[in-house]
Amino acid sequence: MNNKIFNLLILLVLISTNLFSQEEITVKEIDGHIKHLASDQLKGRKPGTPEGKLSAEYIANDFKKSGLKLIAKKGFQYFNIITKVEYGKNNKLKLNKINYQLKKDFVPLSFSANKKLNKEVIFVGYGFDIKTDKLKWNDYENIDVKGKIVMVLRGDPEINKRQSVFIPYSNNRAKLLTAKDKGAIAVLFVSGNQIDSKDKLLKIGKSRSNSRADIAAIHIKRNIADEILKKTKKNILELEKSINKDKKAQSFSTKTKIKFTTDVNYKEAKTQNVVAILEGSDMNLKNEYIVIGAHYDHLGMGGHGSGSRRPDTLAVHNGADDNASGVASILELAEKLSKEKTHKRSVVFIAFGAEEMGLLGSKFFVKSKLIDTKKIKAMLNFDMVGRFDSKTRNIVISGTGSGKEIEDLLKSKNTSNFSLSFSKEGYGPSDHASFYAEDIPVIYFSTGAHDDYHTPKDDLEFINIDGQKELTNFSYTILVDVINRDKNLTFQEAGPKKKSKYGRGLKVTWHNTQCNF
Ligand code: BES
Ligand code: ZN
Repeated sequence: MNNKIFNLLILLVLISTNLFSQEEITVKEIDGHIKHLASDQLKGRKPGTPEGKLSAEYIANDFKKSGLKLIAKKGFQYFNIITKVEYGKNNKLKLNKINYQLKKDFVPLSFSANKKLNKEVIFVGYGFDIKTDKLKWNDYENIDVKGKIVMVLRGDPEINKRQSVFIPYSNNRAKLLTAKDKGAIAVLFVSGNQIDSKDKLLKIGKSRSNSRADIAAIHIKRNIADEILKKTKKNILELEKSINKDKKAQSFSTKTKIKFTTDVNYKEAKTQNVVAILEGSDMNLKNEYIVIGAHYDHLGMGGHGSGSRRPDTLAVHNGADDNASGVASILELAEKLSKEKTHKRSVVFIAFGAEEMGLLGSKFFVKSKLIDTKKIKAMLNFDMVGRFDSKTRNIVISGTGSGKEIEDLLKSKNTSNFSLSFSKEGYGPSDHASFYAEDIPVIYFSTGAHDDYHTPKDDLEFINIDGQKELTNFSYTILVDVINRDKNLTFQEAGPKKKSKYGRGLKVTWHNTQCNF
């Protein structure tokens, strides 16, 4: 065969494989999406920043290129977030005729309400009201705090134990909610020796839950606490010792009034979800919607209050796995579904903003009624799908109890020998939780947590792109089934619908005790 004919043959083979291959989910494209979204240039896709907006634009463009219709405002659904918390000019504290100084003697907590008060202080130990099988401890039992200010010790008697029954009750916000439930109008937090022998004041930080409390909260130093306790001839370190020893309530009125003003300002910024739709082909079923989602935001440059697990290192948190990977998967799913036109129901693709700040984008979406939530019949979430382990072939799938048919469906489509780890709970640390709370069946795909999670080392080089492609192809078969099945998945309850009022709920990360929330 001469060279020319050989080359021609090769060319023909190449053209025909290209024409007939139906590959829409490709390693090259997944790699390209993650490379772009997790690049240093996009600075960790922080909500409310120009780079956050550029990330959203990249996603909207790709949806459009794949033939989806951009909805809301050209694909962007805007909402406000709190980006910065600052002390105002009007923070004052006066006690026994002494004026104390902001940042030297006291600080309001980031989530404090802004109030001006002059009221009696009641000491309520650790400020617990715990009623569990294992533990009963009520610091409010024999004392009336209605309309009064309470003073509480930070932390709990077992602060140095990694595993402790007190953990869900020991953070500031949980204690504040308890105090408010009991009718108190403000909380003064003070550090005992165990939690902080140096008695440093908490740093101002942004709370990821994005909401201000209804009552005032101040962190005071021990010298102020002792001044408050003066008439009772007690001091805070002795009280800490005796409570830790007896492990029970020791609450009393200090018979002392304190006067203060709290002034904490929140700065807001605009961010957005990216929303696009593929209309269903079936006359009737097209009025029902299946949501495919992945959050695109991440922690920016990190820092205290960002959710970073290295809060002292300011560096780009690229978030290749969390969650450029999930976005890459849904962009590929959108492209394939659009080309193959196998969608009886309508499919809404959403890249959520501000997930890292407390699922804010998905919460906003479900409340916005851009799509009537009653017509949303299922939600599939992709968050951290980039660290597939080719040896174990494990995929973690959560929410499997939220729809009667889900586990059987997943098993029946598992023709590639994946090891599927099911977790039934509909609530979890990502955007599907916002849909489960509205009684919508959810399926959440992930390759699980790892050491680089929420650190600047969550980079592209550790992503298993081939593995992610396999996972995405598998999820496509689930997607096609959910979109086209005759009867929708049957919703069923699978665990709580919300984070518990107390403590850390189901958060994966846990915050440093020196952060001000
Ligand atoms: N991608 C994570 C959730 C996650 C963690 C999935 C580990 C799989 C393994 C998500 O972005 C996240 O960081 N969630 C927060 C909670 C959320 C309510 C702010 C978390 O886990 O702390
Ligand atoms: Zn995260």
